[in-house]
Amino acid sequence: MFARIDKLWLTTLLACLIPLLWLFFDIAFDQLGSNPIQALHIRLGDWALRFLWLTLAITPIQTVTRWRGMAVYRQLFGLYTFFYASLHLLAYLLLDHVLQWRLIGIDIIESSYIWFGIVAYIIILLLALTSSKWSKKLLGKNWKKLHRYIYYAAGAAILHYFWQLKGNLVEPLFYLIIIGLLLGFRVLVWLTNRQLSKMMIPKSRE
Ligand code: HEM
Repeated sequence: MFARIDKLWLTTLLACLIPLLWLFFDIAFDQLGSNPIQALHIRLGDWALRFLWLTLAITPIQTVTRWRGMAVYRQLFGLYTFFYASLHLLAYLLLDHVLQWRLIGIDIIESSYIWFGIVAYIIILLLALTSSKWSKKLLGKNWKKLHRYIYYAAGAAILHYFWQLKGNLVEPLFYLIIIGLLLGFRVLVWLTNRQLSKMMIPKSRE
């Protein structure tokens, strides 16, 4: 059983690198269009967002399937969100702005959508840093509270995405619907659990 799960985990770990290999392939064969730096930057941002949704989808899948082994996949997708978001940020700093801090400062002040990107990134960074079993033990009950901030990261990432869009709203709307459904599912589970635990408490005699 363990070997099977490990194999699946390893396959997933490697499969998550496909978007990066695909990007390398497009760079090597000059397939990034007329503005390759912007295309690279955008592709990395898109993948960071996709991995964020995948991470969020794990808890509902776990609730429906009751497969306890899913937590390792949530951690894996979460770390890949951090990985692609970090590459997206590096592309912005190194390729877009060639580390010209004055220009970066002006851009950040002038473009409010970047503020939301920064908020999302800081949360994702904190969650990645505390994703280990060791941190979970150390933080105890606070670990769950901290990791619920993933919903704030998702909200900030969506705003970051919406705000800088020049035209097509279809993809961000699709992501917005997904996050709405995932959040709705969580609220439903929470309400059901509350109702169940209320029913379990014996009524005191008058
Ligand atoms: C410090 C953090 C961040 C900075 C400075 C930043 C910067 C930017 C910039 C400048 C763009 C516009 C690209 C262009 O049109 O040329 C962009 C787009 C985008 N970013 Fe970020 N970003 C950050 C964090 C994030 C995070 C954490 C995510 C997702 C989890 C993200 C996802 C995206 C997406 C999806 C786009 C739009 C791509 C598209 O148009 O399809 N960004 N970001």
